[in-house]
Amino acid sequence: MTDIQSIIAKMTLEEKAGLCTGANSWSTTAVERLGLPEMTVSDGPHGVRRVEDLDAISAPSLPATCFPTASCTASTWNPGLLHSMGQALAEEAIALKVDVLLGPGANMKRSPLGGRNFEYFSEDPCLAGEMAAALIQGIQSKGVGTSLKHFAANNQEYRRFAINAEVDERSLREIYLPAFETAVKKGRPWTVMCAYNKLNGSYCSENQRLLTDILKGEWGFEGLVVSDWGAVHDRVKSLLGGLDLEMPGPKPLRVQKVVEAVRSGALDERVLDEAVRRILGIVFKAAQTPKGGRFDLEAHHALAQKVASEGMVLLKNNGLLPLQAPQHIAVIGRSAEKPYYQGGGSSNINPTKVAIPYKEIQARAGQAELTYAAGYPEDGSYQQALIDEAVDLARKAEVAVLCVALPASKESEGYDRVDLDLTAQQVALIKAVGAVQSNTVVVLNNGAPVVMSAWIDSAAAILEGWMMGQAGAGALADILFGRVNPSGKLAETFPLRLADTPAYLNWPGETGTVRYGEGLFIGYRYYDARQQPVQFPFGFGLSYTSFKYEHARVSAATLKDVEGVTVSVDVTNTGKLAGQEIVQVYVHERKSTLVRPEKELKGFSKVELQPGETRTVSIALDFRSFAYYHPAYRQWVTESGEFDILVGASSADIRASLAVTLQSTLNLPCILDRESTIQEWLEDPRGKAVFEPMFQQMTAQLSSLLGGEVGGMDMLGFMMIMPLLSILHFQESVLPMPADELVDGMLAQAHALQI
Ligand code: BGC
Repeated sequence: MTDIQSIIAKMTLEEKAGLCTGANSWSTTAVERLGLPEMTVSDGPHGVRRVEDLDAISAPSLPATCFPTASCTASTWNPGLLHSMGQALAEEAIALKVDVLLGPGANMKRSPLGGRNFEYFSEDPCLAGEMAAALIQGIQSKGVGTSLKHFAANNQEYRRFAINAEVDERSLREIYLPAFETAVKKGRPWTVMCAYNKLNGSYCSENQRLLTDILKGEWGFEGLVVSDWGAVHDRVKSLLGGLDLEMPGPKPLRVQKVVEAVRSGALDERVLDEAVRRILGIVFKAAQTPKGGRFDLEAHHALAQKVASEGMVLLKNNGLLPLQAPQHIAVIGRSAEKPYYQGGGSSNINPTKVAIPYKEIQARAGQAELTYAAGYPEDGSYQQALIDEAVDLARKAEVAVLCVALPASKESEGYDRVDLDLTAQQVALIKAVGAVQSNTVVVLNNGAPVVMSAWIDSAAAILEGWMMGQAGAGALADILFGRVNPSGKLAETFPLRLADTPAYLNWPGETGTVRYGEGLFIGYRYYDARQQPVQFPFGFGLSYTSFKYEHARVSAATLKDVEGVTVSVDVTNTGKLAGQEIVQVYVHERKSTLVRPEKELKGFSKVELQPGETRTVSIALDFRSFAYYHPAYRQWVTESGEFDILVGASSADIRASLAVTLQSTLNLPCILDRESTIQEWLEDPRGKAVFEPMFQQMTAQLSSLLGGEVGGMDMLGFMMIMPLLSILHFQESVLPMPADELVDGMLAQAHALQI
């Protein structure tokens, strides 16, 4: 064990300040005098982007496997597979001399317009958290670090370096933070990367509440916090906020400022020492894994294909798929020849090789005749001639496989999408091909949902191929021909229209601030609450086989919150093909003091079944599965009462509903104050004990008034939601003391009561 404290004691102030800023674009600063090595980091998240020249930000990077992006990997709902992908990423990092991989991203998909959504997992924190934790564990199991990013509320690209995300406490705790919390607690990432944006008025890079109080304090994060590249505005403030390492470097003037701040007393040297301690802890950990060597290109390409084949989602199928040995296939669409398999920006990988959909289809088509037409141009222009050519081929064929990819101009890191549409040419192409060929399969490649109302009826089948990674073409061909039974399900809702989406009225913000006005209600939470139809719901995906759910049961019908409960269901493959089913468990609270979503995902499990096989799937629910964050108590609370546990094949396909009674074990402090209503006094156990005698007196005195309607009002109902103090103000003439004093006295009693 290296004695970090004694090393810190030997370091000069300049050396300590220097260590907290990068030496170049990708490495930390070595201190040769003390034998402190440098540490090299690289993007992330779905491949190793090891930039050759470490002084450059985006010079050519060394070849590495480009795995599918997070939209696709999340749709596998298979943490075990992400663990394997993580191990492969780590092997490549080791070969490419990278100590820490900059990923995964665990932000929520607040709006499908987010330009970077392809790098994020889901609209649901439970799914995103589990996937992030699995990837982290996989990577770190090989001695390579991760950087969980971008902490936090990084949900748009518009004004991405400075936008102020205004998020209420409850939405932050229940929606925007839990995926990070799960990833930190379960995955134990070596590093966490702060976001560029501000959160509630303070840059994430200097947000003490976020970085120090919540991440390091409440969640017990032991690693280092690194800035996003260029996210630091004031180095001293960022150190005070809890940001340990600034990247990229070098930044000698800023280092100097830190030195001066310590000398002037503006920065306590112990704050700097703490950052140094955390950085050295990770630097030494990284140094334990020898770097260099090779990785198995072919094995990783095959793994990338496996991930893609589990992440692709079959959205529609009128029976055309899997293809039944057609003799003439028209392959249409530019992306069949030039695959769109990853997104633009810092995650862009230099692939080791790229599988081509046309070739992969050809390889599985046997003796069938294949024809090809581009269908749409590379730029966004409209060219009718390309459509005409495609229609001609489609008409002559038995089946048309229409490959349509969103152009990079419509989605990337750096800018948001402006709509959810395919290009006008692509829509016209699908409609025209569908009109002459009833056996048309549309294969989509995109990082985030597109709307389909204009063309969905033209397709006999739709396969969502996502940004499928370098080997995705093999996966899509396998699915088309039935060599792989599709098993992906959507990790995000596909809406019918942009105007239906949760953040529509609060996007992308103005005058520097974006208000998360929809609160808790993003994704299916929103569509559920509005009872709004969607194109494809969260958790949805078709298979070539069918599954029956039977004997759903809970380990206890009445439970204490701290005990949790296990939900089990027997799932049978009732079709003719082997397949995998993703069982989802949602929780619904029947009656709660604060508003809650209709249902929330709290567990899931993917199970593989042979035809006719039955297996029992069990999913454990814990305290947090039933709790919500109460901003007034500043803690997670459970309420005693009835809950429904919903076992579903998707968020909209609930196969069983199980009622349980929860007993809360919490003894919450009294939060009554001068503004508390009569009802709140009566609902609070301490308040009730103090106030009930007076309440009985009041209702007796006012019985003639409270019995019915006065002035057209239900007086009792009205009184219940009035603050006690306000009611007493009206009666002050008959009170023994001023109403304020009376209520203050009762409050003091209630707060002091031991129950
Ligand atoms: C991105 C990060 C990335 C970093 C380094 C930033 O612009 O937001 O995700 O890790 O650059 O490339």
